Parts: sequence; C-alpha cells; structure tokens
Amino acid sequence: MTDNIQRTAVLTGATSDRGIGVTTARRYAREGWAIVILDLDGEKSTAVAAEISAEFGVPAFGHRVDVADEASVLAAQEAVAGEVSAGRLPAIGALANIAGITSPVPFLETTLELWNKVMAVNATGTYLVTKAFLPAMIENQWGRIVNMSSVSAQRGGGVFGKVPYSAAKAAILGFTKALARELGDNGVTVNAVTPGAVDTNIRVGSTPEQEEAIAAGIPLGRTATAEEVAAVITFLSSQDAGYVTGTTVDINGGSHIH
Ligand SMILES: NC(=O)c1ccc[n+]([C@@H]2O[C@H](COP(=O)([O-])OP(=O)(O)OC[C@H]3O[C@@H](n4cnc5c(N)ncnc54)[C@H](O)[C@@H]3O)[C@@H](O)[C@H]2O)c1
Repeated sequence: MTDNIQRTAVLTGATSDRGIGVTTARRYAREGWAIVILDLDGEKSTAVAAEISAEFGVPAFGHRVDVADEASVLAAQEAVAGEVSAGRLPAIGALANIAGITSPVPFLETTLELWNKVMAVNATGTYLVTKAFLPAMIENQWGRIVNMSSVSAQRGGGVFGKVPYSAAKAAILGFTKALARELGDNGVTVNAVTPGAVDTNIRVGSTPEQEEAIAAGIPLGRTATAEEVAAVITFLSSQDAGYVTGTTVDINGGSHIH
C-alpha cells in the first residue's frame, strides 16, 4: 500500500468498458486509493465500484451523475459526503474529471444543440464537479484535481472534424491554469492531461482507414492504451506530484504540437 490509502479518488466517466475512466479507477485502486465512480449510468457505476472493491480490497462507492446538470452533481456530492461522514470512505483526496463526449460532425453540419451539449458535458461538467468536490480538499489542505483535455485542444480535432469538442477541451486547459493559480498554496494541485488517440470505445465512429492514418502520423506508430493515460493521471494525483500544478501533460506518442 502507498501513502494514498487514507484517501478517496473520485472519478467521473468511469463505467465504459475499456475506457480511460475504468482503467484509471482500477489503477488508483491498485495503488491503494478508495474509489468513487460517478457516471450517467448509476447501476453500472455501483457495479464497477463493487467489482473494483472486491478485486483490490479498497472501499468503493458508485453513484449516478450527469456532470452537465448541477442538481445531479450536487446530489452525487452529497451522497459521497454521506459515505465519508459515515466512515465508509476516507477523505476525498483526488478528483479525476474524465467524463466527456465527442462531436464527430463537420463544422457546418453542427447545430447549436450539439455545441451546447459538448460544451456542457466536457467543460461545464468539469467546472460543476470541481466546484462540488473542491471544498472538502481545501478543508483538508490536500487535494489533486486532474482534468481530461485532449490533443484536439492543442491542434484541432483532425479527421473527426471535432470543432465543438476541441473548443470544449481547450476551455478545460484555461480552467485548469486559472484554478491552479487561484488556489495557490492550499495543498491542492490542478493539472490537465492531453492524450492523443487512445484505444477506447469513444473511437467507434472512426473507420479503420482513419485509425491507420492516425497511427501513421504518431512517432511511436500506434495509439495509446488507456493504461498509459491512467499512469499519468495517478502520478499527478500522488504525493510525489505535489509541486506540479497548473500544467498540461501531453500523452501523444511524441506528436509534438507546440
Ligand atoms: N479515447 C481517446 O482517443 C481520447 C483522447 C483524448 C481525450 N479523451 C477523453 O478522455 C475521456 C474518456 O474517454 P474514453 O475514450 O474513455 O471515452 P468513453 O466514451 O469510453 O467514456 C466516456 C465516459 O463518460 C461518461 N459520460 C458521458 N457523458 C456523461 C455525463 N453527462 N455525465 C457523466 N458521465 C458521462 C460515459 O458514460 C462514459 O463512461 C473523455 O473526456 C475523452 O474526451 C479520449
């Protein structure tokens, strides 16, 4: 067990099979964190939490949340706070804002509805969930917030034509830097990760030709595994990462985009 055993990691967007969220939750648990799974699918959140608890022997709790809906986020936060006060979960130490949706539609075919939805889940969701869970971290003077952006924020959405997605993920980078600066020395760090292509179900809309073209453009010649992203998120959540804040960690196989 590590120094993290006394703390709980809260993850949004962590029920999708092979997804970055579930993979990261398992990695946190392997490192000794207690786990909270918050996802649109409440039943699956509870089931994934139970599976992780059984496999790794850590406390775990699952609850439904729609990250884009403030009432839903507050209800989830209240449920988690109840678990903490009842002693079933240790104090909240980390928040990984992983829930996200794409917008694989060419720009002129996008609608205001799609734009609003993509902004709401990716950007507003990160805002709402962070605002709900941050007070507990400030109170404990220890916390790690890791926000899921994307290489799309840095160089545009590429073959998927993801203009709303790129804009929403770029908003997360500004949010991360500003919040890190504003929090200052509260023991709470705020960082973002910008994966390139990761092999998960979110990519089901792309064709094999598109996937081949993506891999060919990556110096390492392949997409990332979810585990490779999880490793960075859990490092940024560790005691050792205490002097890393307001930064963006690229996980893109050497595709230098700056
Ligand atoms: N896979 C990639 O290539 C890649 C690359 C860069 C960044 N990302 C980002 O990583 C994150 C996870 O991606 P993934 O590939 O595992 O995707 P995924 O589609 O497999 O998982 C997304 C998860 O978010 C949940 N979710 C969606 N809307 C939600 C809402 N309103 N409230 C709560 N939960 C919601 C889904 O139920 C699902 O569990 C996303 O933010 C994505 O944009 C993915």
